[in-house]
Amino acid sequence: MTLCSMILYYVRRFKRGFVLVFILYSVMVIRKLCCDFSIEETGLSTKTYSNREKWITVNTTNGTPANVVELLAHCPDVSPFLVGQLEFVDINATSLNLNLSIYYGGEVELGGFWRPKYCNARKKVAFLIPFRNRWEQLNTFLNHMHPIFQKQQLDYRIFVIEQTGKDKFNKGAIYNIGFKETLKYDDYDCHVFHDVDLLCETDTNYYGCPNSPMHLSVGIDKFNYTLPYKGLIGGIQLFSKEHYLKINGYSNQFWGWGGEDDNLFRRIRMKGLKLIRPSIDVARYKMNQNNHFRSDGWSQANHRLIYNRRTRPVVDGLTTIDKLHFTIETRESLLYTLVSIDLRQRKGRRT
Ligand code: BGC
Repeated sequence: MTLCSMILYYVRRFKRGFVLVFILYSVMVIRKLCCDFSIEETGLSTKTYSNREKWITVNTTNGTPANVVELLAHCPDVSPFLVGQLEFVDINATSLNLNLSIYYGGEVELGGFWRPKYCNARKKVAFLIPFRNRWEQLNTFLNHMHPIFQKQQLDYRIFVIEQTGKDKFNKGAIYNIGFKETLKYDDYDCHVFHDVDLLCETDTNYYGCPNSPMHLSVGIDKFNYTLPYKGLIGGIQLFSKEHYLKINGYSNQFWGWGGEDDNLFRRIRMKGLKLIRPSIDVARYKMNQNNHFRSDGWSQANHRLIYNRRTRPVVDGLTTIDKLHFTIETRESLLYTLVSIDLRQRKGRRT
């Protein structure tokens, strides 16, 4: 007996049974289709958000988005998850909180990537963290800041821009190289250049770029929450891609500590852009002074360079990184994307 004739034999013999199974299967398929478009009665609280075209409803457990049931709308202008002043900054945590990672029950994906599940983030943000050998500070930063970026409902990735090798640290150059690297991942609305030792004290200090370049770390505990001088923009800066390209990024010529940010301030002004700052009551930071060392001392030479013709946007910056000597390697770690740059300073030259 062939397979076909066997099937026909059994279909004829158990006709009613097959009809019954077919009906049950159809009911299950129809139910599934219906449930996908309605709100499940889970006993969880529901929240409704709107955008111009659509209303959506999501289930939430303890304020955490659980299940999207319609096409995604924009996230609200102000995230409902913000609390303002954060009670506790665990500055002494030395190990990485792996529970944040998706592989340990958290939500951050490989490479330090996260986006809201139930609404379309209003801003896509690349965080660039310049880094050399400060692992404790990096751990504290990631533990503390990932949850804040999530509460702000950003679509983001953290890039740790590491300078390897023994030559002097050149924050401007590695920022420029790192910036180009981020563009391989996404078309970000916003690039945040963020020192690893600055920890936000309020979650209402929003990291989505406004329409002008912004200096965010206005109040730092080390400076008694005051701005030491008007042109200080060190610490954290926010730029749209267009504005960072317009000023041709940082200068590549500042080897060693200090001055590259003072020069950045001039580059912004030279290109006719307005630098803005949030209120000092909101933009408050703790400086993590644990294992705070500077491998390179204060550089007199850098301070001479701040106003130098060679450090103007037309002469050096993003467009001249091909003149630098470096190799680059990028890999995705559990809570961040590591961009390692072996940057060499050519002796006798400041390129
Ligand atoms: C340096 C800046 C630094 C500022 C605050 C200035 O002297 O040139 O690079 O951000 O001090 O520490």
